[in-house]
Amino acid sequence: MNYITLPSTDLKISTIGLGTWVFGSSHWSGAEKKDCINAAHAAIEHGVNFIDTAPIYGDGLSEEIIGEVLKSNRNRIIVATKCGLIKDGKRITFNLSPESIEKEVEASLRRLQIDCIDLYQCHWPDPDTPIEKTMSTLLQLQSQGKIRHIGISNFDLDLLKNALSFAPVVSLQVQYSLLNRSIEKDLLPFCREKQIGILAYGPLGGGILSGKYHKQPHFTSSDARNFFYKFYQSKQFEQIQTSLEKLKEIERPLYQIAINYIRQKEGITSVLVGCRNREQALTNTESVQWDLSPEQVAFIERHFTVIAE
Ligand SMILES: NC(=O)c1ccc[n+]([C@@H]2O[C@H](COP(=O)([O-])OP(=O)(O)OC[C@H]3O[C@@H](n4cnc5c(N)ncnc54)[C@H](OP(=O)(O)O)[C@@H]3O)[C@@H](O)[C@H]2O)c1
Repeated sequence: MNYITLPSTDLKISTIGLGTWVFGSSHWSGAEKKDCINAAHAAIEHGVNFIDTAPIYGDGLSEEIIGEVLKSNRNRIIVATKCGLIKDGKRITFNLSPESIEKEVEASLRRLQIDCIDLYQCHWPDPDTPIEKTMSTLLQLQSQGKIRHIGISNFDLDLLKNALSFAPVVSLQVQYSLLNRSIEKDLLPFCREKQIGILAYGPLGGGILSGKYHKQPHFTSSDARNFFYKFYQSKQFEQIQTSLEKLKEIERPLYQIAINYIRQKEGITSVLVGCRNREQALTNTESVQWDLSPEQVAFIERHFTVIAE
């Protein structure tokens, strides 16, 4: 495994991080708890020391599972979780108010069974709470020793700059894959210049870039591939199959090509890859055993059709 220090911190994190949205199972069809635990242990055995979770993943279940995994690994693992997405019946609301964050952090610490969260991230912007209030709450949690570092996720450039004027934000978590390269316009150059770590999520577009879906799949209605990763509808699906066909010329597993393309981009600190079992965890971590050559990167950029630029 390779490790990079998250800028402005003492956190030396693996360039492949373990994404655990699937661990909550509610937005991913049929993820079994024991398979998720095995996946986490397999990733850790192969050098992954960075785990990303969130209270919203399975209504706390993902954090609880990570809490179990951490019991035997706390000193080796850097844990990132989030605040700001609240389940309200079937609705999900954005809430980064001080009162809500203060409640959320206690619940996360309890589920994770730890005293301090290494990286605490605002999951999505909350248009109803001034950013200075959110940041001052996070600074307070930091001074109380409940969180070590402050991160954000899914913020645009203006909001990121705004947040930075109130608190030392060390990371931006954002979607970045061969299918969605929109951060290259402004966020990636800005973060490179200002030395803010980028944690890239969805590197497999939710699984499609593994190349395993030869026919358009049909997921259960709550599955994230119906509402979040919109690459599975007919037009995009066919276009992606054509791009993947071309990538086969590189003669490496497609999921490793997709992961390495993002991992090797300058400015990316860690690629958060989701997995539902031990085998996926192992094969994904093996991506670090080789690098795409500059010619292969150029070949990919010539032949792969980006869906969101
Ligand atoms: N901040 C945010 O708003 C946000 C949003 C999304 C994600 N995230 C974070 O980023 C992490 C990664 O993103 P993601 O999990 O949504 O998507 P992803 O990493 O692009 O895709 C993960 C899915 O791909 C499939 N897969 C993984 N490895 C595979 C392999 N080797 N072979 C075949 N299929 C494989 C699995 O699903 P199937 O087996 O079902 O195909 C797995 O659940 C999340 O877990 C979460 O921690 C954050």
